[in-house]
Amino acid sequence: MKYSIVLPFLATTVLSAPLVQERQADCTVPTSFPTTANSKLPNPFVFFNGNKVATQADWTCKQKEIAAALLSQELGDLPAKPSTVTGTLSGSTLTINVSQGGKSISFTASIKKPSGTGPHPAIIAYGGASLPVPATVGTITLDNGAIAVQNDKGSRGKGKFFDLYGSGHSAGALIAWSWAVSRIIDVLETVDTGIDPKRIGVTGCSRNGKGAMIAGAFEPRVALTLPQESGSGGAACWRISDSEKAAGKNIQTASQIVTENVWFSPNFQAFSSKANTLATDHHELAALVAPRGLMAFENNIDWLGPVSTAGCMKTARAIYKAVGVPDNMGYSMIGGHNHCSFPSGQQPELTAFINKFLLNQSSANTAGIERSTATVDITKYIDWTFPTIA
Ligand SMILES: *[C@@H]1O[C@H](CO)[C@@H](O)[C@H](O)[C@H]1NC(C)=O
Ligand SMILES: *[C@@H]1O[C@H](CO)[C@@H](O)[C@H](O)[C@H]1NC(C)=O
Repeated sequence: MKYSIVLPFLATTVLSAPLVQERQADCTVPTSFPTTANSKLPNPFVFFNGNKVATQADWTCKQKEIAAALLSQELGDLPAKPSTVTGTLSGSTLTINVSQGGKSISFTASIKKPSGTGPHPAIIAYGGASLPVPATVGTITLDNGAIAVQNDKGSRGKGKFFDLYGSGHSAGALIAWSWAVSRIIDVLETVDTGIDPKRIGVTGCSRNGKGAMIAGAFEPRVALTLPQESGSGGAACWRISDSEKAAGKNIQTASQIVTENVWFSPNFQAFSSKANTLATDHHELAALVAPRGLMAFENNIDWLGPVSTAGCMKTARAIYKAVGVPDNMGYSMIGGHNHCSFPSGQQPELTAFINKFLLNQSSANTAGIERSTATVDITKYIDWTFPTIA
């Protein structure tokens, strides 16, 4: 049917073009996803239907496909912008009111602004920032646990997100928090808060680091994503974590994470003991942030999976390079410090990324940041090569 319609108009170009051209013109995001077992990291340069990712337009389309698979298999649904989002700033308290389908919720975030006239850039920090935010950048502290509770496995369906969408909604806490970040930015775009909505970063550490990674991946208005010590569920790849576990490491895996908390959708349960059947992995989650800024900080702690985070982020950096933005992503792991205490040794890479992506210093040098205490050969985890996407 489709060809009988386009053929008369596009006969010469369509018939002579390779199949990938078809994909550019028609970026249909699939609603079902492959679940074929594959112990290697999935190839981000091939569509699920086998077509190659050859152009930037294809890559944008592939990102949509990756996002849809992650939502379906891991995270749960991400609702579209609600019908009404309003906000007010009173002192340092930003109140966000949201209505949808006859229900309303209200939540707050506290804003700490730099001195002087703005608009200022700001970093949205889950539960407060665990990394040093410079005096020239604001901090917007979000109590993400009020949006989706994360006490333990019994927290399923609890929090303001679920008050609005129902306790049976498929969202896990990570994607519910990402939704709240989007609503904060909605308000920054419409209310004069002195914060520039085009220069927003997001950060969090540990479980909140997993959340920061997800928010950066799913909210394109986030200019800089700074996950800190996020480990498995964030900067680690499920498949590499499983291979580390099989090698005897004390590491968080998909099968453990679903027993600990409600960060992921109930849909993820089906994959927890067979993460090798997921259509994607977290090298592709990180690549959803591209071309925007992403700097992943890690720690050399077994549970976080040093080999897994380094292998996963090294692969993500190679994807950034393949799509033409090699300097917009870095990863850095230093050991010998407490979990979530930011070591001064990582200050240069943090400063460089903040300068470039939040303070408009285009000359800030974010090139080649690949620092790790774990030595990882990524060819062990991939069976494909990196193209150059024109
Ligand atoms: C936001 O919601 C709160 C709680 O329902 C309410 O008290 C407040 O008036 C609302 N603010 C606006 C601006 O609608
Ligand atoms: C940075 O650039 C943005 C977008 O062009 C602009 O809105 C903002 O005012 C600039 N901020 C700073 C701190 O220079």
